[in-house]
Amino acid sequence: MAGMIKIIQFSDSHLFGDKEKRICGLDTFSTFKDVVKLAKKTNWPPDLILLTGDNSQDATEESYRRLSQVFSKSPAPVYCLPGNHDATPVMKSVLGKAKIKTDKTFSFGGWNFIFLDSNVPASPKGFLKNEELQFLSKALDEADDGPTLIGVHHQPYPVGSKWIDTMAVGNSKELWEILSSHENVKCVLFGHVHQEFDDFQSEIRVLGAPSTCFQFEPKKKNFALDAEPPGFRWLLLSSDGKIETGIKRLSQIPSELDLTTPGY
Ligand SMILES: [Fe+2]
Repeated sequence: MAGMIKIIQFSDSHLFGDKEKRICGLDTFSTFKDVVKLAKKTNWPPDLILLTGDNSQDATEESYRRLSQVFSKSPAPVYCLPGNHDATPVMKSVLGKAKIKTDKTFSFGGWNFIFLDSNVPASPKGFLKNEELQFLSKALDEADDGPTLIGVHHQPYPVGSKWIDTMAVGNSKELWEILSSHENVKCVLFGHVHQEFDDFQSEIRVLGAPSTCFQFEPKKKNFALDAEPPGFRWLLLSSDGKIETGIKRLSQIPSELDLTTPGY
């Protein structure tokens, strides 16, 4: 469709390098491939594929090689940003060879894309270092007037679950001061929360995605897995800044998912 970008967001695939490893009972490579297969049936071909972090669970080279296999024949450019389970240098090195891009800024179809690194070394918590905030300000100042999407792994403010909100971007006030002073910011897209999230901050759409493996139950004080199937988010971005979006999920939860898992 003219003037539209078709995007698929896959998030939190938590892949292992070792084929035998499981998390919450799941073979995350298998659920990832199933979710990509679903996207191929329903939303293919996209113009862009975005991976919003926790691409790997164990940060091994092999886990990133397995990720890259899935996109070896991708019809669209694939861009990825790091989550708290990723090791950015390893991710960049392996995915770079596979032509999965780790650029932090790019333009596509009249939109500007700016990806942030919200990771804190040796911690699952989100935070934007001063240099990251400065990078964001500069990227926004240098971008053209086109609509702009910000990608980040951690939720940019609390989503209503106490346990996971301890990991939200810790200095979100500073982040939103910058975003709200740039009228062309239309969307903040994130992962980490393993659940659908769709909200507005003034005119800015704020969107979280399900994981391609296990899901977290929304609005919970303590850790709880959700009996929702793995899935992905699709987006249609118009050149005038309008956004259509939705979630698609597998028809059922994987039978090996252990919903009693006390943590991960
Ligand atoms: Fe995750």
